[in-house]
Amino acid sequence: MKRLPIGILGSGKGSNCRAILERIRSGDLAAEARVVISDVLDAPILEIAREFSVANAYLPPGQFRTRLEPQAEEEVVRMLRDAGVHLVVLAGFMRVLHAPMLRAFPQRIINIHPSLLPKYPGLEAWKQALTAGETVTGCTVHYIDEKVDHGQIIARREVAILPHDTAESLHARIQIAEHELYPVAIGGFCEKYAASSA
Ligand code: GRF
Repeated sequence: MKRLPIGILGSGKGSNCRAILERIRSGDLAAEARVVISDVLDAPILEIAREFSVANAYLPPGQFRTRLEPQAEEEVVRMLRDAGVHLVVLAGFMRVLHAPMLRAFPQRIINIHPSLLPKYPGLEAWKQALTAGETVTGCTVHYIDEKVDHGQIIARREVAILPHDTAESLHARIQIAEHELYPVAIGGFCEKYAASSA
C-alpha cells in the first residue's frame, strides 16, 4: 500500500506525535512521517522525532503569541512542500494558522481537540467540560479552517466523566482516547491516498 506522506506540527510534549509514529513503525498506519516542525525550540516533540529518526525542525515563530508571523508561516509551507507532505497533522500546535497554510493545504490540515466539538473550543477544554457539570466529554479530530477549533468534524470519541474526576485525571483519560483516535482518523486518509494513487 502506498504510504501517505505526513508532516506533524506541535508545540509541546508530543504524546500524540509519539502515538502516530509508533503506529507507523508497527505497520498499523500506512503513513510516512516526513517532518516534525515545532515553534518551541526545546519542545519534547522534537526529541520524539529524533528518537524515531524523523527529520525535524524548529521554526522561529516571530513576535506574535497566538499566530506565526506571515514570513514564518510561508516558511512552514515551504518546509512542508519541500518534504512532499500531503497531509498536515497538528498535534498540540498552539498557534492559529492563517491564509498561507490554509491556501497551500486546503482540506489537508487536521487537528485533534480535547472535547466533543462543537462544545468547548479553546484552551483547557477538559476543564470547561468538568466545570460545566458534563457527564461525558471526549476528543475530536477535525479539519482546520480560519476559526479556532471549528472546521468540519472527521471523528470523535467519547470519554465518560467520573464522579471523582479531577481536571488532571480527566485530561489523562482524554489523552489516552486521543492516542487511539488520531491514528485511526489518519488511517482513513491513508486509505484514500492509497486508492487515489494506486
Ligand atoms: C492534546 O491534548 C490535543 O488535544 C491538544 O493539544 C494536546 C497535545 O498534547 N490540541 P501532546 O503534545 O500530543 O501530548
